[in-house]
Amino acid sequence: MDFRGSHILSVDQFDRDDIERIFTVADKMEPYAQRKKVTRVLDGAILGNMFFEASTRTRVSFGCAFNLLGGAVRETTGFEHSALAKGESLYDTARVLSGYSDVICMRHPQSGSVAEFASASRVPVINGGDGINEHPSQALLDLYTIRKEVVAKGRGIDGLRIAMIGDLKYGRTVHSLCKLLTLFKGVHVTLVSPAELEMPYGLVEQMRERDFSVTVTDKLEESIRHVDIAYSTRIQEERFGSKAEADLYRGKFRLNQSIYTENCEPNTVIMHPLPRDSRADANELDSDLNENPNLAIFRQADNGVLVRMALFSLILDVVDQVDKHARDVNWYRHGR
Ligand code: NCD
Repeated sequence: MDFRGSHILSVDQFDRDDIERIFTVADKMEPYAQRKKVTRVLDGAILGNMFFEASTRTRVSFGCAFNLLGGAVRETTGFEHSALAKGESLYDTARVLSGYSDVICMRHPQSGSVAEFASASRVPVINGGDGINEHPSQALLDLYTIRKEVVAKGRGIDGLRIAMIGDLKYGRTVHSLCKLLTLFKGVHVTLVSPAELEMPYGLVEQMRERDFSVTVTDKLEESIRHVDIAYSTRIQEERFGSKAEADLYRGKFRLNQSIYTENCEPNTVIMHPLPRDSRADANELDSDLNENPNLAIFRQADNGVLVRMALFSLILDVVDQVDKHARDVNWYRHGR
C-alpha cells in the first residue's frame, strides 16, 4: 500500500510487504525510542489524539511516538468531556479536529465509528480501537513482538503455534491479530474461551480458509502445552450489559508460574495486550510470572512506541529524513 496520507483503519489494508516495511522502519526507530538519539523530523506537526474510551498505553504511546519524532500532541480524553456528549456528529467533530491536526488517532466505543470519522477527516486517521471491531496498531505491535521473540528462539511466524485465551468475542486485539496472521502460512491457532465468549465465527472461517489448524476449546492447561505464544486477554467488562454478567467469566483462565512450569514448553512466550486485570477475582496473569524471562508483556508495550513511530513516519512520509534531523541526547539517561 501507499502509506503516504493513508488512514489506518483495519489490518485488512496490509499485505506481507507492507508488514515488512513497517517492521523495518520500526527497527530503525530503536535509538530514538531508547533515548540514545533525538530527532526533530516532525517539528511543527500536530497529532490530534482523540480517545473517547478508556486507554492508558495506546493513548500515551501514540503521544510519545509523535513527541519522539519531534511533533506536538493535543488530546481529548473521555466521551463525557467532549462535544460528542452534547450531540455533535462524528462528521462535525472530524471536520473540526482535522483542521487542527496533521494526523489523528482515535478510539471510540462503537464498531465502525473511526472509519465514519475518517471519511469526514481532512487528515489521515489511525484507528486506536473501535468497539469490538479492530485495533490495528495493537495487532502490528503484537506481531512485531511475536516476530522478535520467536526469531530469537530460532523460529518464524510461518508455522507459528499460538494460543489465544480469554474473551475472544469482544477482544478487538485478538480480532485484528487473527486477521493479520492470515497473511502467514501454516499457523496453528488454539482459541481458549468460555463457549459464550468464542471468537466470531467469520474470523475462525477466515483462518480455516487459509489452511490454519484452528482448535476451539475451553480448557486452558492442555492448550498451552505445545505453543510458541500464550496470548492472554482480559474479560472486556465494558462490553457486557452489567458487571455481574462479566463476573460470570472473570478468573476462568488464570495463568501463573506453577501452571506454566507444569504445562508449557520451556521457551513459551507469554503475551497480553494489557491491561491485565490483577484484581483477586480475575488475576489472569499472576504477578508471580513477573520474573519469568518469557513474560513479554512489557517488551510488547515498549514495542508499541516503535511501531507507532513507524506508522507516523510512513504516513507523513519522513522515513528517509529521520536520521538527518538527529542529534545526541543532552540529559542523563537512566538505565532502561
Ligand atoms: C486493549 C484494548 O483497548 O482493546 N488494550 C490496549 O489497547 N492495549 C485490550 C483491553 O483493554 O483489554
